Amino acid sequence: MKILIVVNAYIKNHSQIRQAERICEELKALGADCEVVRNIHLAEIKEGKVKGKECEKCVFLDKDKAAARLLEKSGVKLFNTAEAIEVCDDKMLTHIALANSGILMPDTVYAPLCYYADADIDMKFLDDVADKLGFPLVGKLCYGSLGSGVTLIKDVAQLKVYENENKLKAHFYQKFVGKGGEDIRVIVVGGKYVCSMKRSNLNDFRSNIELGGKGQKFDADREIIELCEKTASILELDYCGIDVLMDTDGSPYICEVNSNAFFAEAERVCGINIAKKYAELIIAK
Ligand SMILES: Nc1ncnc2c1ncn2[C@@H]1O[C@H](COP(=O)(O)OP(=O)(O)O)[C@@H](O)[C@H]1O
Ligand SMILES: [Mg+2]
Repeated sequence: MKILIVVNAYIKNHSQIRQAERICEELKALGADCEVVRNIHLAEIKEGKVKGKECEKCVFLDKDKAAARLLEKSGVKLFNTAEAIEVCDDKMLTHIALANSGILMPDTVYAPLCYYADADIDMKFLDDVADKLGFPLVGKLCYGSLGSGVTLIKDVAQLKVYENENKLKAHFYQKFVGKGGEDIRVIVVGGKYVCSMKRSNLNDFRSNIELGGKGQKFDADREIIELCEKTASILELDYCGIDVLMDTDGSPYICEVNSNAFFAEAERVCGINIAKKYAELIIAK
């Protein structure tokens, strides 16, 4: 069985390369003919028809929606699907997809799209955001990862500066949940809970490992496991890493869903071969 593992053409991050290699090793160990490729010339439209690279399955570790959609249209089975990758790539779309399903998530207010650099900010909108969410609140870019697009906003003055600086980018505001600098990263494969780690950062409200967060093995309770399995099922994800915020009253809130979550740190602290579990699912499905 020919399986391609797709990474971005301009990949620089060593962790991303290692992630692809690890999945490839495990697929090969299960007998697959597997290769890591960049998202160039994977498929094209010729004479009105999509022609894709020869392969049966593809582990799509990039977020290039054109390449993902074309590959799928050429008949290749993608892990995760193009749709699931797109919905998770845009944090606002993820919250919308999960809403009305009984899943707890921080109260979220989208910011209206703005097309003009010289537009004046609507102060009434910012007052409403402050009234609904209170301070501190969190400003988030819809597209962003490793904590880079997530900002803590402490008062109206900071809110105004943030809105002005980000008005041309898709973004939203969120209620601050928990005590800050802490969340639970939960790995789900094939709709089933695999393991989780608590991430703590003493120097930043963002617990991302890349920003200095430290991971430790965490025993998730039934409530967290059910929440995360339900989340993965609604988003139809084969593999994901879900960020869960624990509210001060102990309730778990979905913060974010990563369709391409790095697993090295979770493998290390939990002592579980996540790449192998994913490879087994890919072969079986
Ligand atoms: N609403 C929130 N309340 C409190 N902390 C938050 C909130 N949203 C995000 N965080 C913190 O910021 C981190 C990064 O946010 P996240 O939405 O996961 O974006 P990224 O894709 O950059 O990881 C989270 O892991 C969490 O520690
Ligand atoms: Mg995150």
